Amino acid sequence: MNKLPAVLGGKPAFGKPVPITLPTLPSFERVSKMAEGIFSTGMITNHVFVREFEEKTAEHLCVKHAVAVSSCTSGLMLLMKALELKGEIILPSFTFNATGTALLWNNLEPVFVDIDSETFNLNPARVEEAITKKTAAILAVHVFGNPVDVKSLQEIAERKSVPLIFDSAHAFGASVKGKMVGGFGDAEVFSCSPTKLINSGEGGIISTNNGMLAEKLKVLRNYGVLPDYDCEQAGLNSRMPELNAILGIESLAILNQNLRKRLELVEMYKRGLKKIAGISFQRIEEGSKSCYKDFSIVVDKKEFGIDRNGLNLALEKENIVSKKYFFPPLHRQKIFSRYFERFDSILPETNYVSENALSLPLYSHMSRKEVEGIVSCVSAIHDNSEKVLEMLPNA
Ligand SMILES: Cc1ncc(COP(=O)(O)O)c(C=O)c1O
Repeated sequence: MNKLPAVLGGKPAFGKPVPITLPTLPSFERVSKMAEGIFSTGMITNHVFVREFEEKTAEHLCVKHAVAVSSCTSGLMLLMKALELKGEIILPSFTFNATGTALLWNNLEPVFVDIDSETFNLNPARVEEAITKKTAAILAVHVFGNPVDVKSLQEIAERKSVPLIFDSAHAFGASVKGKMVGGFGDAEVFSCSPTKLINSGEGGIISTNNGMLAEKLKVLRNYGVLPDYDCEQAGLNSRMPELNAILGIESLAILNQNLRKRLELVEMYKRGLKKIAGISFQRIEEGSKSCYKDFSIVVDKKEFGIDRNGLNLALEKENIVSKKYFFPPLHRQKIFSRYFERFDSILPETNYVSENALSLPLYSHMSRKEVEGIVSCVSAIHDNSEKVLEMLPNA
């Protein structure tokens, strides 16, 4: 027997808010012991721990080069600069704004392409149709850690001689047919911010098998200055501090164990939620492994009884934080408003997922009890949907 939803006067399921996510941090003792070295040498940025973090991430991802930067955003900006891209970039609109703003910093034009409403990732057929003489690159995203169809995108990119790069912000730990995400296309850019499985406080990693590209990126992350202090191209200060690299190294050491726990929690969520009408999940392709940076559901109002916005509000009353990722999609955001007319009608699946998807709390050290509590709240809200709807006139 389900409890009475809090929105109908029942007691909230949780005494204090369950956050959408939390970083699962390495032990403070280990981090502080490593940090002692920095304080004795005074080398506090872009030094031995950054090199170690780069070597260990390259090894983990099975790539030749990993270049540490200050964030995924700056990594994307520098990558497009290093590739000297000019013209149009094909990208999804169902993503975080940094994917799109990174190309605006390089005076590149976005060409938004629709996603597949089941995987939430770029639809390769739509990508191929969108390629023209002006296309400078394809920028794909592994949304919520679910690998995009890399095989089809690589075939298209090779056939059309277009560079293929990835915003892999969410996807450290994901793989396709046993190959780690990180080794696909010309380069991939990961985020190491606190909401990601790999966490260096703030930071990013650019992975590539192209040695010349890696060398260029190392110059660009250091203002663009060459060893003789001459400057050829505008870079950034996008260096990673040593303290962040230590956090990254220790976070990498516990990544596999965190990933295992996370996947168990996702399985629990799925087991519980699949019994509820009107709830579906992001589809993971056969042979792919998502690292589940986020656990996202799609709410079908007709079957569930309430729409995504209503569920978001009803969960808030239970002290459960859920997020409408990604809403609005990029082409409906102010910064991209001049592209709205051109793209809105050709992005039906993007608009559908953006209007109906909801991310539920997930972090690697979350308790099974919390997952169970959230599942039973969703179930109770569904069972009482008519009455809940009366309390949420805008739902
Ligand atoms: C898809 C995507 N790309 C890029 C970023 C930016 O990452 P960072 O905060 O490391 O700059 C994020 C941030 O979460 C993201 O979700």
